[in-house]
Amino acid sequence: MKNLSIVLAALLGFAAFSAYADVDNAVKLQTRYKSFAKTANPEYGSPSAVDGKLFFNRKIKGANGKETSCSSCHTQNPANEGKHIVTGKKIAPLSPNVNPKRFADVDKVEEQFTKHCNEVIGADCTAAEKANYIAYLLTEKTPTAKK
Ligand code: HEC
Repeated sequence: MKNLSIVLAALLGFAAFSAYADVDNAVKLQTRYKSFAKTANPEYGSPSAVDGKLFFNRKIKGANGKETSCSSCHTQNPANEGKHIVTGKKIAPLSPNVNPKRFADVDKVEEQFTKHCNEVIGADCTAAEKANYIAYLLTEKTPTAKK
């Protein structure tokens, strides 16, 4: 799916990603991934937040024998600030509801998906997985109260 970001950028046009970095962009991007997923598999229905959540928390054993999931760095609540498991650096929340900067730049999103999916799963995520992932992130609106 190397060319996906180029195609996406072309389809969405520049305007869609200009000044408005908010939930709308995440929704638009989700719709795009959905249409790609449908092209790949006509049986694909709609983005599923339930599947997205399972995917987000699924632990996968890497080549080094360590189990990692998206939640390893992004925490079990994507509305929370994350923490990089290797560098310990803080990661701004992934949920576009609490962090309007997320899913605003299609090239960045594609780059991060490719990088992290390869790190965790060992391959890029499919369009269906990306659509489900965003669907799930859109449902998470409330950071966990700090104890
Ligand atoms: C080893 C730590 C780590 C893991 C594991 C991880 N991520 Fe990330 N993720 C990051 C960091 C660091 C950033 C970028 C921080 C930033 O932009 O503030 C990020 C950002 C992202 C973004 C960018 C969103 C945007 O618009 O800015 C996406 C999408 C993403 N990650 C998806 C995933 C997925 C999918 C998984 C699981 C397959 C995953 N990540 C697992 C560390 C991780």
